Amino acid sequence: MTIGNDDDLQKLRVIGRIVANTLRAMQEALRPGITTGELDALGAKLLASAGARSAPEKDYSFPGVTCISVNEEIAHGVPGARVIREGDLVNIDVSAEKDGYYADTGASCIVGVGAREIERLTRDGKRALWAGIAQVKSGARLNAIGKAIETFATKNRYSLVRNLASHGVGRALHEEPGEIPTWYEPGDRRVMHEGLVFTIEPFLSLGADMAAETGDGWTLVSMPRAPTVQFEHTMVATKRGALILTQPG
Ligand code: CO
Ligand code: CO
Repeated sequence: MTIGNDDDLQKLRVIGRIVANTLRAMQEALRPGITTGELDALGAKLLASAGARSAPEKDYSFPGVTCISVNEEIAHGVPGARVIREGDLVNIDVSAEKDGYYADTGASCIVGVGAREIERLTRDGKRALWAGIAQVKSGARLNAIGKAIETFATKNRYSLVRNLASHGVGRALHEEPGEIPTWYEPGDRRVMHEGLVFTIEPFLSLGADMAAETGDGWTLVSMPRAPTVQFEHTMVATKRGALILTQPG
């Protein structure tokens, strides 16, 4: 969506804070022995108490409130009986709606201590997100985001998953201007206009360049199999740069 007035911005800030606080609380609860279903139940409780509704459940009938993806799973993981273990790489993605406004955030983290290359990947996944955010400014080309992320990934010898993109958000979980690549698309001539609301969510990997479907119809796994992280914020394009909506507070 494109923000039309101050009420739009205030309501987006509210839902942005709710999803950010929910993600943070779920990360804090992450420990060996907890199941992804128990973690999702915490997310469900926090969203409900804030008056928000799960976006994937509402818009896509996803069988969970949040998406929790472990190790080989990289996105849209269905919460359930899977038990979290020390050293697991866990991605939690929280998107929700309140008063007709949506926000979307996600992050990967290692439970306890992980292998050194996965610790480095996790740190750099966040840096890749911020390399993209640094390009946000009304009037700039949308493909500047993917160009900066791809430059960062190449320089640091990572791959990017190229069939999962960032997206417009606001009045629905996925909306105009459609998909926003986190890799360089030279032919993409779209411009970030003032007030445009969208996500940036690169999937940085130690070798995967695709997300592949699995038998449950939801969970996506890395292809070829390789540790992969995702970090995501929802933001608004302004003259002064990105206004991040999904900050805890
Ligand atoms: Co998300
Ligand atoms: Co998203």
